[in-house]
This record gives sequence, structure tokens and C-alpha cells, in this order.
Amino acid sequence: MDIVVAPNPILRQVCEPCEVGDKGLKKLAKEMAKAMYANNGVGLAAPQVGVLKRLIVVDCDVESEKKNPIVLVNPEIVEQSEESSIEGEGCLSCPGISVPIERSLWVKVSFYDLDGNACTVEADGLWARCFQHEIDHLDGKTLFESAGPVDRLQALQDYETALASGAKPGETDVRVR
Ligand code: NI
Repeated sequence: MDIVVAPNPILRQVCEPCEVGDKGLKKLAKEMAKAMYANNGVGLAAPQVGVLKRLIVVDCDVESEKKNPIVLVNPEIVEQSEESSIEGEGCLSCPGISVPIERSLWVKVSFYDLDGNACTVEADGLWARCFQHEIDHLDGKTLFESAGPVDRLQALQDYETALASGAKPGETDVRVR
């Protein structure tokens, strides 16, 4: 599976809910996880592989040898902390750059698993940031739309430079300022 890269308009679409329990989602999730690991990502949303459905795959356990991705069907943030932090984020669809983004420190996410069971997960740290990032993708938001106005302008400039220098998905440090 190839990663869709900005500014491809696919990334700006709002995705449709999945049919809960749809057997075809298992294959999609498996292929997405494969693409995520192949590109050293910690999360991937279906629109990033050209599928406009509300499904994300996340694995922030980068230390672990075991590949154990969490698949979230129709994920929704149902609670989040007011307390937030701003940190540099990369994205497989915006290769070569890192953009400061403000995110809640803690989130509670409701979703369905691949068997159609209703689940919730609570997360902080990198996991919380990643859930927020991937769910933004489902609403057509990339790093550029999630950043504040000043950082957005800088990011767009950096991205032009990164693309011109041939940045590939998985790279976050090609920016030249
Ligand atoms: Ni992303």
C-alpha cells in the first residue's frame, strides 16, 4: 500500500463511518498496519492509503519487538483534558517536516474493534497525541490544518523545501530553515 502524500486532496476529505463488523475491514487494517511499520510510523489513518473510511491503526509502543497494533473503527474522542502541550509532530503524509501542534494531554476514545465490539480506551503521552492526530485525519485535517496560524505558514514553507529535497514518508527532519 502506498502512502498518500500532501497536498493530495484525498487527505482533506471527511471520511464516512465504517459498517461495524464489516469483514473487509480486517484485510484493510492488516495492510494498513503493514504499511505503517514499513514506514516506521506510530499511526496511520485509512485516508492515508486512499480509503475514505473512519478507521485508524496505532502502535506507539516503539520499544517493543512485538508488533501489536490497535485498530480503531469509527473512533471518537468522548473526553479530553483541558490541559494540553505543544510538541513537534511528524506525519507519513507530510514527509520531511515536524510541526508544533497543541494537543490535550489525556483523551478517552470510543471505538469498535474489528469484531464489532464497542470499546473505549484512555490514553496519555504519545498515545493520546497519536489518537488525536489520526482522528484529525478522518476529518480531513493534516498537520497543516491542526497547527496554529503562525506554525502553519512556517510548515508550508518547510514542506515545499522538504518535497524539493525528495523527502520520503517516515522522514521528519529534512526541513531547512
Ligand atoms: Ni498523519
